[in-house]
Amino acid sequence: MTPDDLIARYRAAGQGHVFAFWADLTAAQQASLCAQAAEIDLAEVAGLHRKLILEKSAVPANPAGLQPAPYEPLPARGGQAAKWTAARAAGESALRAGRVAAFTVAGGQGTRLGYDGPKGTFQVTPVRGKPLFQVFAEKILAAGRRYGRALPWFIMTSHANHAATEAFFASHHFFGLERDQVQFFRQGRLPAVDLDGRILLETKDSLALSPDGHGGSLRALQRSGALDRMQRDGVDILSYFQVDNPLVRCIDAAFIGHHVLAGSEMSSKMVPKAYPEEKVGLFCLQGDRLTVAEYSDVPMALQRETNPDGSLRFSAGSIAIHLIDRDFARRMAVGGADFALPFHRADKKIPTIDAQGNAVKPDQPNGMKFELFVFDALPFAKNPIVIETDRADDFSPVKNATGVDSPQTCRDAQLRQFARWLRAAGVAVAVDDTGLPRSTLEISPLFGDDAETVTASWRRLSPPPELSDNLYLA
Ligand code: UD1
Repeated sequence: MTPDDLIARYRAAGQGHVFAFWADLTAAQQASLCAQAAEIDLAEVAGLHRKLILEKSAVPANPAGLQPAPYEPLPARGGQAAKWTAARAAGESALRAGRVAAFTVAGGQGTRLGYDGPKGTFQVTPVRGKPLFQVFAEKILAAGRRYGRALPWFIMTSHANHAATEAFFASHHFFGLERDQVQFFRQGRLPAVDLDGRILLETKDSLALSPDGHGGSLRALQRSGALDRMQRDGVDILSYFQVDNPLVRCIDAAFIGHHVLAGSEMSSKMVPKAYPEEKVGLFCLQGDRLTVAEYSDVPMALQRETNPDGSLRFSAGSIAIHLIDRDFARRMAVGGADFALPFHRADKKIPTIDAQGNAVKPDQPNGMKFELFVFDALPFAKNPIVIETDRADDFSPVKNATGVDSPQTCRDAQLRQFARWLRAAGVAVAVDDTGLPRSTLEISPLFGDDAETVTASWRRLSPPPELSDNLYLA
């Protein structure tokens, strides 16, 4: 499209001010503004304005109509052991058939952690200080060896961290994975708008753009060709996880098997909430549809309701781990009226420029940003299921610099897990009454990534190593 066509299109959509400083710009600045402007779906922006500003339609629909969602409990908590055994076998056979790809959403900015750099490069493990990306890479490598099929790994980045993420992998030789096993792609961006729905400029030659949320991953999978690649290679299950959680069992045979056997298009893991105020999304039913309601959208009184036995009525916390069917991802990516993720609106102070082109740093929210959430795809999925998982073996994210969900709590969760696995292998690791080992240790996923595989590897060591401080098993 020529710049004239683009400008005409923006004018027709009532967004002509985006080009107000056109005549002041150099040719390079004009080209860069055009490239950004061409990225935007103007009809979508107009729709957002209509829906989220004029009609004020809120997401989620109606908290009063929410019911707790059913889930498959772990055998140790009342689930059917035979069902879990069958699921694990089905999952292993899907993995041996090469049907599974790993998928990490890593486009977030890590602002709360106060870390400047792609979050996946943050060092988390207790002895070696491995970055999050390396922990996932080794888990994926281990699964590939176990099931005899290398797993593709898709990583969604943002415009801000894409180049740094790719460079990080290249400089670490892809942590032992084959280079073409890993595919990076950028998520999309959406423009911030003012309270009248006008697109905000950040400078004379750039729009105020921000990432479109992890829900943008479904479109990005389609746009990048990742879904086509999966189809070509016979891969039909995406194992989705967030970049902030090194404990994640990112390739989990039992989870995959439950998903396959249920004919589910999108499956999820839950943990019972630790306390009513815990900031996790909640699996709920809205009518007969499975949804995740964000903690901030569910009234606290509802979150505190209990069953007759004292347990929380709404206990199923979302830890943002899903399995997504390839064709379902495509259907949601292509969208259309019947398969559209809702946009979430956040009012923000957005640095912009005034009518003269001078920088403005607002001290009150002057506009809004929009985001898509991946779990909003759940109500559209056929046969979606939720299974329970053990928090201690699947979830300890690094979100904040200190306090809950911090590098310290995550380090301790890893240490407890390593100690548990070694003790299950019969090794006398001394621990305190919270299970924290008295000395620092680390187990590489390539040595083992559950009690069973750690036991098998430990038994092969002869003689077994001393339990010295900073023991590293690889
Ligand atoms: C999220 C979930 C919450 C869940 C919790 C579990 C939302 C709104 N909430 O909370 O229900 O209980 O995780 O840990 O998601 N990301 C992108 N692109 C974006 C935005 C985010 O790739 O545009 C990625 C991040 O890199 C990260 C993940 O999505 O891997 C989560 O983002 P974050 O904003 O940190 O979610 P939380 O608020 O912690």
